[in-house]
Amino acid sequence: MSEGKRRLGAAADRQNGCHGRDLPKEPVEASHEAAFRTQAAHAGEDRSAPVRPLTEPIYQGTVYAFHDPGLAETRHAADPSEPNYARDGLPNVRTLERAVAQLEGAEEGVAAASGMGAIALIFLAHLAAGDEVVVSSDCYCDTATLLREELVRFGVTAMFIDTCDPETLRGSLTNRTRLVYVETVSNPAMKLCDLARTARIAHEAGALLVVDNTFATPALCRPLEHGADLVVHSATKFIGGHHDLTAGIVVGNRAVLERIRRCAYFYGPTLGSMDAWLALRGVKTLAPRMAWISETAAAVAAFLAAHPAVAAVRYPGLPNHPQANLARRLLPDGAGGMLTFDLAGGPSAAEALICCLRMIAFAPSLGGTETTISYPPKARPVTGAPHAPTGSVRLSIGLEAAGDLIADLRQALDGLPAPGVAFGIDVDVVLEVTS
Ligand SMILES: Cc1ncc(COP(=O)(O)O)c(C=O)c1O
Repeated sequence: MSEGKRRLGAAADRQNGCHGRDLPKEPVEASHEAAFRTQAAHAGEDRSAPVRPLTEPIYQGTVYAFHDPGLAETRHAADPSEPNYARDGLPNVRTLERAVAQLEGAEEGVAAASGMGAIALIFLAHLAAGDEVVVSSDCYCDTATLLREELVRFGVTAMFIDTCDPETLRGSLTNRTRLVYVETVSNPAMKLCDLARTARIAHEAGALLVVDNTFATPALCRPLEHGADLVVHSATKFIGGHHDLTAGIVVGNRAVLERIRRCAYFYGPTLGSMDAWLALRGVKTLAPRMAWISETAAAVAAFLAAHPAVAAVRYPGLPNHPQANLARRLLPDGAGGMLTFDLAGGPSAAEALICCLRMIAFAPSLGGTETTISYPPKARPVTGAPHAPTGSVRLSIGLEAAGDLIADLRQALDGLPAPGVAFGIDVDVVLEVTS
């Protein structure tokens, strides 16, 4: 049995603990992708009751009533997963945590009110004054700003380096380094992290490896299998998958998560029931969505790479991606739905393209049912001034058919003037920071 399947089976064993109709302990399906589909469709289920709603109800209440006040203390002490009050973790939140932990092959999860909430909790829980964190220099801009401008106030030093280069990484680790922070697929550069090598180097120095797996999702990559210690998601994106919730989650082993759960309780960025329920609905369809989205993205990337108005495409599934070999190892079941590309005509062509698209909407987020286009995110300017225009755009592929997306892109790209020729209509696009 593959290591991946063994972990999925073990996670089901650990988390089912059930007396009713248990799920099979070992997936029957031969491929990991197929086994994952079944796991995702049943993720987080509690099968212990003889009769149960097939879809978990939304427990909108935030506090529980007790006949015996003593019980509130004792039952929580006996089983901290029993809910008392919202910040302890509501039932829907617990289910989501179980589900994502199971899919990532983790012991536990802690959900937060947003992806940034989950990322902040990791830093608050595992860093103290004097500590250092080594961060991939092309990580999501708000994570970088959080470290650079906020965590620095608590005496934490963040070093931004090319974590893909093992020598640079080794040379940046000191006896004060507590965390190495990377993204499986970086936003927006679409660089991949060799997780196994990065984990080895981080562990040699006594640091934990934290991986933001938002772009890949556990359907395509499970960083704990490569040696990571903590995996974090913006569940707002592909996990939720419908542009209708805000959530984050961090998973890992119980000991590492203990402090994170404590920080969630005291700092308070915990998740509400409705968003947890919506995110769990997204989890159930994650596997087929990511497979479909990856297939569509590969077709769109190939089309863009061949179009004369496009100067460069960054998509890990393209054979000419600089890390194509790593992509095959890290993302064997698909390269995901995100890609960035540069227009040969520069910033004005990028603006014109966005204006001319008929179906693909300009929207500053990613990972939903609809394909969206945006400018690649950049650090928020301190002055609040708009960003300088850029010739790059980022696509988040949704559930539409590849042919329709390509048709929309083709009609917009074909209409662009040759590089150096001014665009003939007044383009008035608001340049915004995108997520
Ligand atoms: C890779 C990545 N991580 C984390 C986040 C933060 O997520 P949220 O907006 O849910 O706080 C984002 C947001 O775009 C992201 O792209």
